[in-house]
Parts: sequence; structure tokens; C-alpha cells
Amino acid sequence: MMTMRQYLDAAMEMAKGAGEIQMRYFRMPTLESETKQNAFDVVTVADKESERYIKSYIARHFPDHGIIAEESGADHSDRDWRWVVDPLDGTTNFSNGLPIFSVSIALEYKGEAVVGVVYAPYLRELFYAVKGSGAYLNGRRIHCSAKTDLARAVVATGMPYDRAVNPDNNLAEIERVVCKVRGTRRLGSAAIDLCYAAAGFYDAYWELNLQRWDVAAGTLIAREAGAIVESIRSDRNHSLLAAAPGIFPLFRQLILPE
Ligand code: IPD
Ligand code: CA
Ligand code: CA
Repeated sequence: MMTMRQYLDAAMEMAKGAGEIQMRYFRMPTLESETKQNAFDVVTVADKESERYIKSYIARHFPDHGIIAEESGADHSDRDWRWVVDPLDGTTNFSNGLPIFSVSIALEYKGEAVVGVVYAPYLRELFYAVKGSGAYLNGRRIHCSAKTDLARAVVATGMPYDRAVNPDNNLAEIERVVCKVRGTRRLGSAAIDLCYAAAGFYDAYWELNLQRWDVAAGTLIAREAGAIVESIRSDRNHSLLAAAPGIFPLFRQLILPE
């Protein structure tokens, strides 16, 4: 039986290895991208190669674990130990030469995240957490913000891929928020967004219609840093609000009015 520290070390090694692959392709003039569900949803060779690398690492070191990975789906995902992997979160940024992208790797035991790692290779930011042991950025403990005043809050969000066809596209929420807070950001990697809420770089972050690989690691990291993370829709995949406890109730009211 391995310790949580060993699982964490393995997740960090995989994240750094995938990050190296991504840096080899980043801003390469010949990098091509393909579209998936629609023109807004892209994938590159770096996504696929990162995922292949992570999956083969898991197969070699943890042959009895299951995997859910974005580009290739589920393998034995009913097993007690299961890795949830987004090999490259922020592909729109990556394929356009913007440096905010990451690798997101969570290990779940019986459906609950116990290890989470998010690595942003260009920014050289490695966020990680083990359940019950706090959250860290590059070896330093992180804590969510202590703010309580919406007017001083810097917040972030995203726009769902189905925004052109689904009226629940976050525009009404953004309109309500923008005039009430100090700053509103859209950086483009949900995994980094959750980690920035964890570290207090944002005071709140919300987004609709994410997938489990976008949020599995970042949610654990945010909670371990003291943030509250809750679902804000029952019918839109993973739709969540992550915020510091002093901001959460006010912000929740703003984006979910009675
Ligand atoms: C996307 C990013 C983005 C979010 C999208 C996600 P991908 O992940 O996390 O910030 O707004 O909804 O799908 O496609 O780059 O892995
Ligand atoms: Ca993603
Ligand atoms: Ca991805």
C-alpha cells in the first residue's frame, strides 16, 4: 500500500512531465489545432501527447487504478482508485500563444478526491493538495482570501462552450457582477482559476458547465486552502462557485438571486 505522499509525488512527476511536453510545442508557428464539439472547442497535438504520457505513466505504476481522461475517455473508471486527468487545461490560450494553461491531475478514492495537482508550466506554478493536509503553491502553504467586502473583491469566471445555443450562458450573471466588484477576470483555465481562488489571488470564481477533469484537482486544492466550493446548478455538469468564506454568501446571492 502506498502513502498519500507517494501518490502526490507521482502526480507531481506526471504533471511536470506533461508540462515539459507542452512547453516544447508552445508558440510553435506550425502548431495546428482541430475542433471538437464546435469551433470554440479545440485540441492540439500537445493535449494528445500529454495525455498519452500521463496514461502510460499510470498504466506502468498503478496498473490496477482506473482513469478518466479528457481526450480518450474512461478506462476501468469503476475502480476504487481512479485518476481524473485534464492533460492540458486552457487549450484556447495555448493554441493562441497565451501563457495561461495547465495540467490537472486528481486521484480519487471511492469517488472522493484525495490528491490534486495543477501545474502551469509557463508560469512555473505547481499547486497541490492532499485531503486533510492543506494546499500548497511551489512548496508554500496557501490560504484563500480573508476579504468580506464585495466592492474590494477581484473575481473570475468563464463562458461555457455551448454559450451560442444555451440561454444559460452566464451573460446575465456577469452583467450583475461586473459593476459590484473591483475587478472581473477571464483567464481561460478552470484548473488555474480554482487554484487562484485557493491562493487568494481571486476572492471568488464561478463557472457553468465544466467537466469533472476541469475541476477535480482544483476543487480539492481550493477546499484545502479554506475556500468554499459549491455547485450552482443541478443540470449543467459541473457548475460551481468557489469563494473565500467572507465573500461566499454575498457573492452567491449576486449570481443566484432568489
Ligand atoms: C476549458 C478551460 C476554460 C473553461 C472551459 C474548459 P480545456 O478547458 O478550463 O477555462 O472556460 O469551459 O473546457 O478545453 O482548455 O481543457
Ligand atoms: Ca479543461
Ligand atoms: Ca483539456
